[in-house]
Amino acid sequence: MAIVYDEKSQVFFLHTQNTTYQIKVDRYGYLLHLYYGKKMDVSMEYMLTYFDRGFSGNPYDAGQERGYSLDVLPQEFPVLGTGDYRNTALKVKEMNGCLGCDLRYDSHHIREGKYSIPGLPAVYAQEAQTLEILLKEERLGLEVALLYGVVEECDMITRSVRITNVSGEKVYLEKVSSVCLDFLFGPLDFMTFYGRHAMERNMQRTQVSHGRQSIGSTRGSSSHQYNPFVILAGADTTEDTGECYGVSYVYSGSFSAEVEQDQFQQIRFVMGLSEEQFSYPLHKGEVFYAPEAVLSYSGEGLSVLSHHFHQCIREHVCRGEYKNQARPILVNSWEACYFDFDGEAILRLAQQAAELGIEMVVMDDGWFGHRDDDNSSLGDWEVNERKLGCALSELSAKIHEMGLRFGIWFEPEMVSEDSNLYREHPQWAMKIPGKRPVRARNQLVLDYANPEVVQYIYEKIASVLHQGSIDYVKWDMNRSLADIYSGSTEEQGRVLYDYMLGVYSLLERLTAEFPHILWEGCSGGGGRFDMGMLYYTPQIWCSDNTDAVDRVRIQYGTSFGYPLSAMGAHVSAVPNHQTGRVTDMSTRGVVAMTGAFGYELDLGKLSEEDRQQVKNQVALYHRTAPLLQNGKYYRLSNPFGEEFGAWMVVDSQKESALLSVVSLETHGNLPVIYVKLRGLDAAGEYEAQDTGQVYSGAALMSCGMPIALRGGDYQAYQILFSRIS
Ligand code: GLA
Repeated sequence: MAIVYDEKSQVFFLHTQNTTYQIKVDRYGYLLHLYYGKKMDVSMEYMLTYFDRGFSGNPYDAGQERGYSLDVLPQEFPVLGTGDYRNTALKVKEMNGCLGCDLRYDSHHIREGKYSIPGLPAVYAQEAQTLEILLKEERLGLEVALLYGVVEECDMITRSVRITNVSGEKVYLEKVSSVCLDFLFGPLDFMTFYGRHAMERNMQRTQVSHGRQSIGSTRGSSSHQYNPFVILAGADTTEDTGECYGVSYVYSGSFSAEVEQDQFQQIRFVMGLSEEQFSYPLHKGEVFYAPEAVLSYSGEGLSVLSHHFHQCIREHVCRGEYKNQARPILVNSWEACYFDFDGEAILRLAQQAAELGIEMVVMDDGWFGHRDDDNSSLGDWEVNERKLGCALSELSAKIHEMGLRFGIWFEPEMVSEDSNLYREHPQWAMKIPGKRPVRARNQLVLDYANPEVVQYIYEKIASVLHQGSIDYVKWDMNRSLADIYSGSTEEQGRVLYDYMLGVYSLLERLTAEFPHILWEGCSGGGGRFDMGMLYYTPQIWCSDNTDAVDRVRIQYGTSFGYPLSAMGAHVSAVPNHQTGRVTDMSTRGVVAMTGAFGYELDLGKLSEEDRQQVKNQVALYHRTAPLLQNGKYYRLSNPFGEEFGAWMVVDSQKESALLSVVSLETHGNLPVIYVKLRGLDAAGEYEAQDTGQVYSGAALMSCGMPIALRGGDYQAYQILFSRIS
């Protein structure tokens, strides 16, 4: 049994394959967090200590028991108003401004299967159990249900919260977190993934200390600036040793992740919706669902933690026909020709792609309205037949005749002021009445909190998708939200959350109606790279930065929480359009291949030598696609500090492995580097496909593979190993 309740001690045990999570209902009905870590059958209640501590108050029910204080005890879902002055997971405000809550255990329910959340993305699994713990706030007439999903197989525990106003006056939810993790002692490091447009998910590791440290987004999207995935790791934890906890938020809007060390050196971590511009009204009879947070623990270092998240995302988050399929190699028109194309140019690109073995052509931005630059037409999802020289159906038919698939780009959440949509429905753009809105990329954001807007965009997009046979859609989102206002409600504190529900409802509807389409998420590259989007789009354009060297770092940071199959990665032209850097075609291929692979350049401009390289890359990708899609990924170096980037993928049977190395610096009289491989069978023998040389698995893992560095900037080395015994 994954979930066990011991009635006598009132302790819940949530067991996965290798981990245990424990919660206790204490003598006053408060819910205490007992433990999260290595599998543990015995109750960890003995770790709780009770001392009279100055300025740490006691609940009234504790009478004269001054040693009992919620200011000190580890809690499962702390609320404001209990005498706990640390960070809280929930704030409920009454109409008179009071913020004092008192949640007590009422009942619980254990059931087979994994809960789902109405209107929100969530982990799904057949082999799973759900624990629902019902807490009551008698005075306010509220019920708070803590939901736990246990997916044993990939060591995952999911959490969500359902808040119901059963019988009370209207209240406002001012803060709703999905997870609180209390640790009795540290030290712990907080690992976060910060960045900016075109340089996402750099890793930062700092020790948790006194004072609150927080990351998050107030942009209405999960953002380029901080990814909603974090790790808490022991100070000595490395890739293959030590304890670490990962938490990923299954949500694509504003969020916050906060950690603090308290006055007694304890550590509290809380993650959930951003408090900024959030004030959600809950009337009698209404229910609010918090987005899901997904937790995993590894006692064997960061690689294993990443493997848990990779498996969970591949098997239990991504959906649709492409979930387990090797993705088609695509060529995208964006960096090939930007807005400057017509139907002939797209057909030429398709023809060149077909000759090279590339399988799909994607017509990016610029095919609709009168959009020849980024100042107009968003919202006018009508095919520009004058520009294409034909109907969309004709274009796609011609591309299909060449044996290729065909994809197009949308930016469904946006509107240009220069558009018919804006001229007809100016109130559908988010604007605060009387205030001039913030523009970004010369566009405004549509009010997705208004179901009428969502319905309109649905009809427009569905009609385009019905016209031509479309195999792929890139769903883009190219600005942050700023003027949070919806004409459809009196309650503006609910708009940011409702906006996300609107986006998810459209994604759900379209992905269900067009199940054969491969959907790729995007937000100026990786500005909305999160588990929420991955529920609808099994891959996301990792970054607008296609420079191979920067991508080594961006994909390194991304790999901590997300699998290779989720990372859109393309070979582009040099000098690179974002950085001006020149790298070899082989380097660009090696880097892009360890992602959802494609090209993004004018194939007609390739030299004969580069064309041959592309053919070789395509062939190698086909050979290794299942390995790359489902294999275990290992980071073998840290490209932020070391002079080379190295990573590898091994299949589950340890039969084949692909090693990739990119040198990031070059010097005179170069040394040999010895890259230690991981995840092989120590007892196995592996043949390097290029040289035929045979190596012992144990030797490759403990002494390494010698890589004799070549001169020249950013040289890449890729070795495919096959086990021969
Ligand atoms: C964003 C995307 C790019 C491209 C452009 C089109 O920046 O990240 O890949 O689609 O929009 O405008």
